[in-house]
Amino acid sequence: MNIAILGFGTVGSGVYEVLEMNRSKLAGSAGEELKVKYVLDLREFPGHPVMEILTHDFNDILNDPEVDIIAEVMGGENPAYEFSKKALLAGKAVCTSNKELVSKHGAELLKIAREHNTNYFFEASVGGGIPIIRPLNRCLTADDILEICSIINGTTNYILSRMRDDGMDFDEALKEAQDNGFAERNPAADIEGLDAVRKTAILASLVNQTQVECDDIYTEGITKITAADIAYAGRLKAKIKLVSLIRRADGRTWAFVAPMMLRKDCQLYHVDGVFNAVMVKGNAVGELVFIGSGAGKLPTASAVAADIVEAAKHRHINVVTKWEDEVLALADTNDLEYNYFVRVPAEQAEKAKGQLLIDEIADAGIPAEFAFVTKRMNFGEFKRRSEGLDTISVIRADF
Ligand code: HSE
Repeated sequence: MNIAILGFGTVGSGVYEVLEMNRSKLAGSAGEELKVKYVLDLREFPGHPVMEILTHDFNDILNDPEVDIIAEVMGGENPAYEFSKKALLAGKAVCTSNKELVSKHGAELLKIAREHNTNYFFEASVGGGIPIIRPLNRCLTADDILEICSIINGTTNYILSRMRDDGMDFDEALKEAQDNGFAERNPAADIEGLDAVRKTAILASLVNQTQVECDDIYTEGITKITAADIAYAGRLKAKIKLVSLIRRADGRTWAFVAPMMLRKDCQLYHVDGVFNAVMVKGNAVGELVFIGSGAGKLPTASAVAADIVEAAKHRHINVVTKWEDEVLALADTNDLEYNYFVRVPAEQAEKAKGQLLIDEIADAGIPAEFAFVTKRMNFGEFKRRSEGLDTISVIRADF
């Protein structure tokens, strides 16, 4: 079975390494040897054995009938979209870690795969090394999924953990995450929540079996979270996490990505560093939690390589994944009920006490301000009640 790897960056070189490192194990699992016949990249890699199989021209791969499986690990929408489409139309299987592409064009690429008796697999696109796509499609296929609540961006979880546990500042922690190969090419996608939204859109599309658009998902990143917010969270015995929520009830689906304060009774509280966690609630199975490395070279490569084996086992047999292209209208996140952590200038303390239903006052020794946690209410009500207050911070809390 011949493989081509598109992109020899962090993930691509990881896929090459995993296929080499576990060669005989993978041959046993796939039923035959998995040989990397090509690597596509614009760059040269002098002295690296990959030079012998390096090409700069995708057509070498597309036009080679011996190439059965393509690992598209280049990232970005273009030219990954064109390459994936052409490969599937030619009957080659495509395995990808590319959440941008899957979230935008998953429905179409799955349809092409189905029509050409091949497969489009994307386990690595959500949660790095955590198995979640195949479990949802296979093991949990009997369930109606009621909720998926997760930490699905390793970079932001790493930054928030380092800021909290080691007093690191934001930029220093981000740099460390980048140096470790966790961050996106443009880390704005991580810290502004877009990476988590793409993954949320993929999960929401899968559980609804139809397209959920990234632009329809309410999104807040972590760029507004300060050391002061982290200090208050500590006083409240909470941690701040970038949370992705998908909730389904009464034929409606809510989805958002936003920072939240969580306490230790929530399993996500305990998930730190680059680790991700995906909590799934099914109407038959109950609650499940998947935890593991959400980013990084070998964990992500492990998921891509597992897809390659799956593709090898299902050569010319489409493994059906239902994901229609009709766009789902999401429900209004203003309906969802939470507590809210709020900071206002000290002179607005009385006004805040009068307008908002305060449950707990927070003191992190920060002068000239008043901070508290409200009682539970939906965000629409919170917005009405906080009118006229010059809030310094508002963070959802699930206390
Ligand atoms: N930048 C992503 C993250 C990589 O930090 O989670 C894995 O998708």
